Amino acid sequence: MFHDYMDKFTYYGHSCFMVETNGINLLFDPFITPNELAANINIADIKPDYILISHGHADHIIDAVAIAKQADATVICSWEIHEWLNKQGITKTHPMNVGGKWKFDFGTVKMTFAAHSSGLPDGSYGGVAAGFLVQTANKTIYYSGDTGLNAEMKLIGELNKIDVCVLPIGDNFTMDVADACTAAGFLYCNNIIGVHYDTFGYIKINHKEAKDHFNQHGRKLTLIPIGETINL
Ligand code: NI
Ligand code: MN
Repeated sequence: MFHDYMDKFTYYGHSCFMVETNGINLLFDPFITPNELAANINIADIKPDYILISHGHADHIIDAVAIAKQADATVICSWEIHEWLNKQGITKTHPMNVGGKWKFDFGTVKMTFAAHSSGLPDGSYGGVAAGFLVQTANKTIYYSGDTGLNAEMKLIGELNKIDVCVLPIGDNFTMDVADACTAAGFLYCNNIIGVHYDTFGYIKINHKEAKDHFNQHGRKLTLIPIGETINL
């Protein structure tokens, strides 16, 4: 079934993106309204079935409550973020923790290690930061979340055949371009979508230099204009 169906990827700026798989929409790390680069995106138009939150930092969660409410979406996140969302009236949540997986109606999600922190905007503890390995009917997609380069990625790469990886490339808070390229090698994946760049001063990058670096290592870095959709 659905073998000729393409998963679609829409970029909403920073580390926020939607994956559409067989008509089910998965929104990752909603941070849109404060992002000047995403001023053309209206969150009222975003109607995900699921919201996946990698960690509690504001630049990954700030629009989660509003979008979860308007779309009646199920939020997939750490136990601690699940508890925090429940207190704010978002009760359609699915708590997970690092190393665990669950089969949803769109495919399987495994929560993966990330070398990062995860405080929530009000100072609450958000558990540990994480990434997601998502296996749909069509593709295996790895989103690392905010993270430094780490050797756990080798394990993820050895145990899974990843079609596309979504990696932060902006430096300062996460991997830079060179480390993300090394990560792609660890993951045995030459198809990379860059996120977590340009949004604020600390993470502005040169797009051409970034793409050239990946090219020199035989890998492809895709940087998607905000609001645009590609086929995976
Ligand atoms: Ni962060
Ligand atoms: Mn971040």
